[in-house]
Amino acid sequence: MESVAHLLGTEYPVIMGAMGSISNPELVAAVCEGGGLGQLATVGLDVEGLRRAIAGVRELTARPFGVNLVARNPLSPAMVEILVEESIAVVTTSAGSPTALSSLLRDAGIKAFHVVPSPSLALKAVQAGVDGVVAEGGESGGVQAARAVSTLTLVPHVVETVDVPVVAAGGIHDGRSYAAAFAMGARGVQIGTRLMLSEECRIHPDVKRALLEAQPGGTTVLPVGMGCVRVLANDLARSLEALPAEERISRCGEAWMRAPATFQDGDVNAGLVIAGECAGAIREILPAGEIIRRMVEDGEAILRGL
Ligand SMILES: Cc1cc2nc3c(=O)[nH]c(=O)nc-3n(C[C@H](O)[C@H](O)[C@H](O)COP(=O)(O)O)c2cc1C
Repeated sequence: MESVAHLLGTEYPVIMGAMGSISNPELVAAVCEGGGLGQLATVGLDVEGLRRAIAGVRELTARPFGVNLVARNPLSPAMVEILVEESIAVVTTSAGSPTALSSLLRDAGIKAFHVVPSPSLALKAVQAGVDGVVAEGGESGGVQAARAVSTLTLVPHVVETVDVPVVAAGGIHDGRSYAAAFAMGARGVQIGTRLMLSEECRIHPDVKRALLEAQPGGTTVLPVGMGCVRVLANDLARSLEALPAEERISRCGEAWMRAPATFQDGDVNAGLVIAGECAGAIREILPAGEIIRRMVEDGEAILRGL
């Protein structure tokens, strides 16, 4: 089986998970320079916005980077044309069926990984022709399935179900969790929350502080209509949880739409702060390249010692 680093064209088998509005070009480029695959998100972008974002990264790095496409976004097929023109070599798809996009990507010679929450959806993605899957467990920050299972349960099950490389996501933030992913049969990792606490991530310092101070159990999952979203269990999240069920979904959805603003204004109790369970386990803000290098070096040392 081809190695994930070879498929990605990177030094390390590490993907920066797409993170909506906070996948800023400086962070994407820093991950690439650090040996991983930086990745742009396309949520909220039109095709010209995507072209500008790609140009923004290219100003900062000559290394390859990836782009995440939202499978159910009607603009995604047109975005594939931009990716071909811009010679983007790797794409992850998420939030919907990968069937239509993966055939476009395959015809264009672009490597495609689909983000999956279950073994059955992993199998469907492989049947649609993807080169690999990202098995994302319920610990992860961002949108997830209503009954998401943990990374520890999901990854081995996906590994035994499909014959393509599996990249583990959800809760991976240090050498120990990196090693655990490989021990479960994953060939690579995708990380999100750990990179929110990088120097290059342009979220408000108060958001970074709230993530560093989070305690175990300091995140919660709210329903947002198309699934659920994991966020810090702050004042707003707790007040939404207390609402009657029928009101909760619509109010959570409205609050979620405003989440990008919270990353900028830093009002960490008035808005939703999207984050994974590992937020409280991260002790320091570091350059993104150092986060990746330490994770891989520590993880490989642990694996050698097992
Ligand atoms: C703030 C934030 C925004 C995210 N936005 C997206 C997105 O736009 N598209 C996507 O496929 N995944 C998104 N994710 C999920 C990440 O790509 C990644 O799979 C996840 O963060 C991995 O789990 P971890 O946070 O425990 O590392 C987001 C995650 C976070 C924390």
